[in-house]
Amino acid sequence: MAFPTHRPRRLRRSEAIRTLVRETRLTARSLVFPLFVCPGSKVKDEIKSMPGNYRWSVDLLVDECRAAYDLGIPAVILFGIPETKDEVGSGAYNPEGIVQRAVRALKQAVPGLLVICDLCLCEYTSHGHCGAVKNGEIDNDSTLDLLARTALAQARAGADMVAPSDMMDGRVGRIRAALDGQSFTQIPIMAYSAKYASGFYGPFREAADSTPQFGDRRSHQMDPANQREALREIALDIEEGADIIMVKPALPYLDIIALARRRFEVPIAAYQVSGEFSLIEAAARMGWIDRERIILESLTSIRRAGADIILTYFAKDAARLLGA
Ligand code: PBG
Repeated sequence: MAFPTHRPRRLRRSEAIRTLVRETRLTARSLVFPLFVCPGSKVKDEIKSMPGNYRWSVDLLVDECRAAYDLGIPAVILFGIPETKDEVGSGAYNPEGIVQRAVRALKQAVPGLLVICDLCLCEYTSHGHCGAVKNGEIDNDSTLDLLARTALAQARAGADMVAPSDMMDGRVGRIRAALDGQSFTQIPIMAYSAKYASGFYGPFREAADSTPQFGDRRSHQMDPANQREALREIALDIEEGADIIMVKPALPYLDIIALARRRFEVPIAAYQVSGEFSLIEAAARMGWIDRERIILESLTSIRRAGADIILTYFAKDAARLLGA
């Protein structure tokens, strides 16, 4: 037999054959579109460090969500930018808070769209921390009460799912109990379980004006150096009642996604965060990379690692490229 005996290139000769043997398929159906909602009306305020992303007032948010839904994107996740911030983040759990108002409007205008609420206090606290601050530290257990109140406010507004991103200990169990106690047993929890203390959140903090006024998030978010600890965090969240777990950021943490995929049966979400978005967008604007190709390649890689669901600021672009 002539050399070489093995010819893997046979299966790469045409687009048709590559399509047949493709192991990972990317569709708009596994994407979640993150959006920022702010007070006012007719507001479409571009976020400088995340070009093409905006702070939307509720009226325009509805149109943007309808457009995403029409492209085949099944879900959005909402982040609120409140009118005012205070020590205890009361805008997060006020029944008339910005996210609660947005959810009510969205569920009425686009009922088929799954509306997920990010559940954290950092966008609502004057100090920018994810919880109540006591003696210069984030107090875990009193924060749990505020998170539970926020989950209930979101559920009462009509949220389809809540997504705690605070990384306090015991929050999933506490939120589950609070929801169940008020007959919201049907509302799933998507837990940001392996959320790393990452420099990749920089642009988001500009968007949400949530940069901590002192200190950082390393006392609750995970050390980027740790892998086993992520599995422990995920296992605890599942035990406490998480329906979906999340790894965040995505591309720099594909090893965590792949390990979690092998270890756990629950659906896995991955968040391609603001910094991941902005790196690609900036290089594309410099003319240094092929934007569309890299959007699809990065999302495919996250799926290949094992994510079922991807939260991405490229959701609409990807849906358009994929033809839903
Ligand atoms: C916290 C939260 C953050 C992000 C999602 N939820 C910011 C943080 O932890 O500092 C970051 C998302 C992104 O960077 O795109 N509510």
